[in-house]
Amino acid sequence: TVLVVDFGAQYAQLIARRVREARVYSEIVPSTMPVAEMLAKKPAAIILSGGPSSVYAEHAPTVDRQLFEAGVPVFGMCYGFQLMATTLGGTVDNTGAREYGRTPLHVSKAGSTLFEGTPTEQSVWMSHGDACSAAPEGFSVTASTDVVPVAAFEDDEKKLYGVQYHPEVMHSTHGQQVLEHFLYRGAGLKPDWTTDNVIDEQVAAIREQVGTKRAICGLSGGVDSAVAAALVQKAIGSQLTCVYVDHGLMRKGETEQVEKDFVAATGANLKVVDASERFLNALAGVSDPETKRKIIGREFIRVFEQAQLEILQEDGPEVAFLVQGTLYPDVVESGGGTGTANIKSHHNVGGLPDDIEFELIEPLRKLFKDEVRMVGAELGLPDEIVQRQPFPGPGLGIRIVGEVTKDRLDLLREADAIAREELTAAGLDREIWQCPVVLLADVRSVGVQGDGRTYGHPIVLRPVSSEDAMTADWTRMPYEVLAKISTRITNEVADVNRVVLDVTSKPPGTIEWE
Ligand code: XMP
Repeated sequence: TVLVVDFGAQYAQLIARRVREARVYSEIVPSTMPVAEMLAKKPAAIILSGGPSSVYAEHAPTVDRQLFEAGVPVFGMCYGFQLMATTLGGTVDNTGAREYGRTPLHVSKAGSTLFEGTPTEQSVWMSHGDACSAAPEGFSVTASTDVVPVAAFEDDEKKLYGVQYHPEVMHSTHGQQVLEHFLYRGAGLKPDWTTDNVIDEQVAAIREQVGTKRAICGLSGGVDSAVAAALVQKAIGSQLTCVYVDHGLMRKGETEQVEKDFVAATGANLKVVDASERFLNALAGVSDPETKRKIIGREFIRVFEQAQLEILQEDGPEVAFLVQGTLYPDVVESGGGTGTANIKSHHNVGGLPDDIEFELIEPLRKLFKDEVRMVGAELGLPDEIVQRQPFPGPGLGIRIVGEVTKDRLDLLREADAIAREELTAAGLDREIWQCPVVLLADVRSVGVQGDGRTYGHPIVLRPVSSEDAMTADWTRMPYEVLAKISTRITNEVADVNRVVLDVTSKPPGTIEWE
């Protein structure tokens, strides 16, 4: 394992991902973890991430010198680099010489461990105020910039390496190569980690954990729950029951996809609960977005719990486990605890007895999204499930601006299906992160169709490009594809006489309209 010590930057997750892209297993630990504890994990190498602080700031996170003296190869990046410099006796000055963004790097020691085979002039991504002016004793300086005399250093004997910039971001043109040089050449690691190992490991662990008891799993139609369920299914077969709540707010064909494709690929026991009437009734007369979300969330838990209760009452071994598709980023963001947590189901709202407690099975808690997709593909799930774009839990309920009714849902489902079909046909599914199709149900505009004037609703297309949905930009997609979608929607969907394109980035606009 390579430990990525997180100094509070948003970069630690990205570093961990890049290490895994180099086929080496990595985990993130907080910088507050005592060094002895880090070393007890017997890491093959340690990476110190960037961070928002100056090493001279009050309460700036530090690291014990022991870390550099344990014989474990260490790579410091940005803040981690400066920390390495100051801890080992180098000099870091608060010079006021800042560098932000794309910066030319001059490699002065081309044959060095990190820079071997990379150009002597390369573009790197910088983000710092302080600058290193003298490397610690025993280190050789391997690169500089116009502003910073020591932008990279290494002590090959002690296996200590550092760079002032961020090799993990794609704007550092040879960043991945430099990182791989550290892993393979510096730390002597082999690129042998794959998701196959994950499947074997998890299957064995789940079998052991579950024994002869039973487990249940909620399927949402999304990638994470589908892959988690498929993995548990592989481990314990018929001891797993999957529950899918159809709230009637799904897109065209999605429920059928879960009912047919998922079951065909996994052989899982699936309990489908058709609760669309119930959701429509609960949503009647409501047009406030937050209220809609709350109602959908509340009804969902009620229906899910009712289904759980029915399974609990069936004859058979005890139902002791609940499967969840928690991913590594969720684990890191919620404090990064390890081990299995016990949760009590939300019995305050549903019909479950007070003393029901499920133990969680979270087989994806060490994986990033792209790795989950790989696992899903290896488990034989079809592309339509594994490559599915994000879709919000409240479904089309939050893509109808205004009250949600059956007719409006049917209309939106048609328009959405056309847009998806054309985007797929144009080969845009990977380029576009997701494309919400929104019905402005309370808006009407005048149109002319056939011989008469119409007074119909607009449909909004919201194609966005993103890496993590935290920020997004509208996708500059080909006019011909937009034209085709527009023509088809206005021709084929009754009551729609206008298609508009949303050209807002996030921020300021969110991806969804509600
Ligand atoms: P926004 O609209 O906040 O969306 O920019 C960011 C991402 O989150 C998805 N989204 C949701 N996903 N439950 C979900 O599971 C929700 O309530 C929800 N709301 C938004 C949205 O589709 C986008 O990918």
